[in-house]
Amino acid sequence: MPSKDEEIAFLIKAAKVAKKFARAKYSKFEVGAALQTKDGQVFVGCNVESSSYGLTVCAERVALFKALSEGADDFLRLAIVTNSKTPTSPCGACRQLLFDYAPGIEIILAGNDGEPIIINSEELYPRPFGDHDL
Ligand code: THU
Repeated sequence: MPSKDEEIAFLIKAAKVAKKFARAKYSKFEVGAALQTKDGQVFVGCNVESSSYGLTVCAERVALFKALSEGADDFLRLAIVTNSKTPTSPCGACRQLLFDYAPGIEIILAGNDGEPIIINSEELYPRPFGDHDL
């Protein structure tokens, strides 16, 4: 059984590989994401941009939608990798979707250099809107 540190290192690597497929010709900001389920499956995604800019989908949502559309549920952690020097955070839209479908997961933010940041999704999105409001 891999240790938690080994699982995190693997997830960051998977997100880095996914980043290579980023379709980011407008912003040039490439993002890779890797989402791990509690039973050990990993779903990866990259950002996919459109010439109609607003149609762009972030790497995190690509990974999440791939997982959900293949029947995965019950998520453990998500790694997000960019080429920035320091780690960057997921956008508000992704935080909402992650709260809806993967509440309480661990989120690993990794830049090109330095140590990754590990944060709980609840810290990233405090006082969320959700099912409880409907
Ligand atoms: N982007 C992501 O894929 N994830 C994030 O967490 C932040 C932003 C993408 C969207 C767009 O393709 C580019 O990065 C610049 O905003």
